[in-house]
Amino acid sequence: MTVTCVVGLQWGDEAKGKIVDLLGHDHDFVVRYNGGANAGHTVVRDGKTYKLSLLPIGILTSHMRAVIANGVVVHPVRFLEEVKKLHEGGIAIDGGNLVLSDHAHVIFPYHVEEEGLGDEGSAKAIGTTGRGIGPCYQDKVGRITSVRVGELLHPEHFRERLRMIVPRKNLLLRAFSANARQFDADALCDEYLGYAQQMAPFIQDTTRLLHQALKAGKRILLEAAQGSLLDVDHGTYPFVTSSNTSTTGVWSGSGIPARNLSKVYGVIKAYSTRVGRGPFPTELDDGPSGIGERIRRVGKEYGTVTGRPRRCGWFDAVAVRHTATLADADSLALMLLDVLSGLEELKICTAYELNGQRIDYFPGDAFLLEKCRPVYESMPGWNADLTKARKLIDLPMEARRYVDRLSAIVGRPMSFISVGPDREQTIVC
Ligand code: GDP
Ligand code: IMO
Ligand code: MG
Repeated sequence: MTVTCVVGLQWGDEAKGKIVDLLGHDHDFVVRYNGGANAGHTVVRDGKTYKLSLLPIGILTSHMRAVIANGVVVHPVRFLEEVKKLHEGGIAIDGGNLVLSDHAHVIFPYHVEEEGLGDEGSAKAIGTTGRGIGPCYQDKVGRITSVRVGELLHPEHFRERLRMIVPRKNLLLRAFSANARQFDADALCDEYLGYAQQMAPFIQDTTRLLHQALKAGKRILLEAAQGSLLDVDHGTYPFVTSSNTSTTGVWSGSGIPARNLSKVYGVIKAYSTRVGRGPFPTELDDGPSGIGERIRRVGKEYGTVTGRPRRCGWFDAVAVRHTATLADADSLALMLLDVLSGLEELKICTAYELNGQRIDYFPGDAFLLEKCRPVYESMPGWNADLTKARKLIDLPMEARRYVDRLSAIVGRPMSFISVGPDREQTIVC
């Protein structure tokens, strides 16, 4: 049985999209099990760039069936926009190669409105993507004011639900602000029924579909969104997203039984980045001529979804050891190694200092992590351009030593080393 998971081991944007693309040929299904249109996954093939937010990037691999499973939160407008974008790009999408779970939860404009309101005690303090992700998951676990995709296919039932939900949402929004937008249940219902008509061919019970696929021996590739340090249970809470972004989300978010997971690729960048707020011990906040800014510029470290500059810093091996253990990653995919070319010295965080004590574990609370100071070891950098390297021996000795050291400290072997965005720019170890 082949069930493979590609999971980010940092704060997202580790280039999971590229690894999903590389593994596509060996799989029949690709599954998104968490998050929503807060993700931004990129693939570059023959110089052409493709970006998707809600749909699995694996859908670009023509023989794979793409599944948006029950653990995802779905904004119908985004869903239809991405389907249209692919059509326009010459990629035919229908209910045959894309399926959407009837159990996935629906994002409404009041979710987005709710997220945008409030002061520093609200979503603003976390620095979210503003896509209504948190409020929708809140409704999911709250159970009273939630709507699942399958309900959109039953107009009378759906209208009844919105007639109960929308007045409550209006009250809540008014409580936040006298100027808050108010919604009309029937108008919203009509609008969403229009989307539902277009979405209907894609909607089905994906849990059953995946169980049938497993029984038939189909090979499944799980495409995690976000990074494990943003996991709602195991990340830098509360500066996280609202889903289980690690492999911990696979069973609940797709219905694939835990024991079926056969291989986990942990994706890491050769350094660290983070979008949004929250503790980041190895952050290089060293000004416009500093190394942090240089990494941002060379690595084009700007958010795919919001365009925000990503915060950049040295590789944090304490954090990655924690997430690699959480996912029990079989091996690592080391991405964006080329970005570090030209730096005289590289630093790797191997421990923290917390209240005068050296610790080698990742503290579970953001307020403690905030107090941690990184303990670094240094390695010599290299000058050569790596983007044309295709084999390990093409890398300068210093780069190979850096790769080996990361692998040794994290305690997992390397499977891939990436030296550029294009799928060709990859070293298979
Ligand atoms: P994801 O969310 O984990 O899929 O990652 P993103 O797509 O948000 O961000 C990764 C970015 O790095 C994308 O723009 C990729 O095209 C780019 N990228 C991927 N691998 C490499 C690499 O090895 N080197 C460089 N320079 N860029 C890369
Ligand atoms: P991919 O899949 C990087 C971050 C946001 C914010 C926090 C919560 O491309 O790696 P949310 O809108 O989810 O409630 O925001 O999570 N975030 C990401 N950061 N990559 C992502 O996805 C992210 N998705 C959410 O910036 O800090
Ligand atoms: Mg991304």
